Amino acid sequence: MKAAIFKTYGNKNSIVVEEVDNLIPKDHEILIKVKATTVTAVDAIFRSGKKFFPRMATGVISPKIKTLGTELSGVVEMTGKKVTGFEIGDEVITDSGTNYGAHAEYVLVTDKDPIVRKPKYLSFKEAGAISYGSLTALPFLRDHGKIKEGDRVLIIGASGSVGTYAVQLAKYYGAEVTAVCSSQNALLVKSLGADRIIDYRKTPIKDIHSRYDIIFDTVGKYSIAKTKHLLTPKGRYLTTILSLRSVFDMLRTGRSKQKSILALTGLRKNKEKTDDLRLITELFKNHKLRAVIDKEFTLDTINKAFDYVAQGHKTGNVVITF
Ligand SMILES: NC(=O)c1ccc[n+]([C@@H]2O[C@H](COP(=O)([O-])OP(=O)(O)OC[C@H]3O[C@@H](n4cnc5c(N)ncnc54)[C@H](OP(=O)(O)O)[C@@H]3O)[C@@H](O)[C@H]2O)c1
Repeated sequence: MKAAIFKTYGNKNSIVVEEVDNLIPKDHEILIKVKATTVTAVDAIFRSGKKFFPRMATGVISPKIKTLGTELSGVVEMTGKKVTGFEIGDEVITDSGTNYGAHAEYVLVTDKDPIVRKPKYLSFKEAGAISYGSLTALPFLRDHGKIKEGDRVLIIGASGSVGTYAVQLAKYYGAEVTAVCSSQNALLVKSLGADRIIDYRKTPIKDIHSRYDIIFDTVGKYSIAKTKHLLTPKGRYLTTILSLRSVFDMLRTGRSKQKSILALTGLRKNKEKTDDLRLITELFKNHKLRAVIDKEFTLDTINKAFDYVAQGHKTGNVVITF
């Protein structure tokens, strides 16, 4: 089988597509023929090797993850002896999480990983671009933001993968959504349900004067210090970015009414992720959610996909189809 092998950090051609040994599922594993996966902002950060905390996870000297990629859709090719609930030929949506490996023709997941049947109404392409963004945005807004109907929510980075799902999920929970994005993405973000748009290139954050119950900084460009004037007395600033600053702010505001919260949603329990993936597919079914797809690449052109994602300006998701 062909797989994109993560050879070195930083180099634009550091991912090399090679023939590797076929995978054989162990008792509790499921072998999936990948139909669509994505190159995410996290994959691009990993490839760059430039950020301290991610580098600690991927290998200090050289990459210890052989193949990147987490979210995918595909078809069950083979199941381990003890797998129940999935059969050869089932169309599935899954996320390999910290086992990675989705940038390949085949991937192994376990029957404990978040895996659900792909509904027929979703294309493989769309289904391959669901879990990363939505399973980040959902726990941030629902569990950490405690979102409720009527909340005023500011979503920064509303045109990205996490942001496009965050806008739609915040609307699903009945919030009033102000989205921060550039004007070129305003129409798209409005079409996802945003009530108001602020163009971050024209209006600096310090010049916004409204108050919000939740600020979800999906791209981690600010901090509670820079957004405090925008928070209601019990408002929460949520950030996706692990840094000394975000950890310090979270500790410092832990007992305050206005909180800064960092969460690492990829490290949640598999059961929680599976339940949420079920909820997300239901929301797709009810047309409450849609996947935004920017560009499509193949496994052979995956470095180009990484180069594009690394620029930080994609809208929604960048998909690799097989
Ligand atoms: N903590 C966790 O568990 C967790 C999980 C997943 C991801 N993450 C992190 O979340 C971050 C976001 O991920 P993502 O996949 O959504 O990123 P993404 O899709 O790459 O975000 C790109 C988008 O962000 C917009 N953007 C850039 N700077 C902006 C600014 N100052 N204000 C508003 N919008 C801005 C860009 O719009 P323009 O082109 O108009 O600039 C672009 O559409 C990543 O850094 C990732 O590491 C964390």
